[in-house]
Amino acid sequence: MSPKSRAQLTAEVAQRTGIDDTMIDKLVRAFYGRARADALLGPVFASRIADDEWEPHIERINAFWSSVALMTGQYHGRPMQLHVGLPVDGEHFDRWLALWIETARDVCPPVAADHFIEKARMIAQSLELGIAMHNGAMVAPGERYRRGH
Ligand code: HEM
Repeated sequence: MSPKSRAQLTAEVAQRTGIDDTMIDKLVRAFYGRARADALLGPVFASRIADDEWEPHIERINAFWSSVALMTGQYHGRPMQLHVGLPVDGEHFDRWLALWIETARDVCPPVAADHFIEKARMIAQSLELGIAMHNGAMVAPGERYRRGH
């Protein structure tokens, strides 16, 4: 994608939704504040992210959401690889998404919240599927025969 067309796309989405860096930062901080305090999700975060690692983590997550919500291309990480090793399943993703929806509705105007929620649903679904595949809870079509089951 040429830099110009990306900048145009970003400007269009920003104008339509009202999303900017300040709103992303506010949402992300509010969400991780709640997620860290959550009985199901909190221990998973605490086991991987030490207290003094949270600020850089929040900054990477802000870049991620800038890329996802505004298509700025700021984020260059590999979320799937970071999540496949986590002790999480569908229940964790349901909780994550419920908390994200609740926080987005609390913190953002409705059009922006809808945009953040739609994107999060798609990504959560693909991460959950990736983890299930990784854990062998789901296999690609034909794979079961190949394995002789
Ligand atoms: C089951 C719910 C989830 C849990 C418990 C969880 C937990 C974590 C943890 C512990 C890390 C740090 C991994 C590490 O650096 O070793 C991480 C990274 C990350 N998570 Fe999640 N996550 C969940 C779902 C999601 C979802 C649904 C999204 C996106 C919509 C997301 C976005 C990210 C991103 C972008 C990073 C990587 C940041 C980087 O590049 O360092 N997570 N997550």
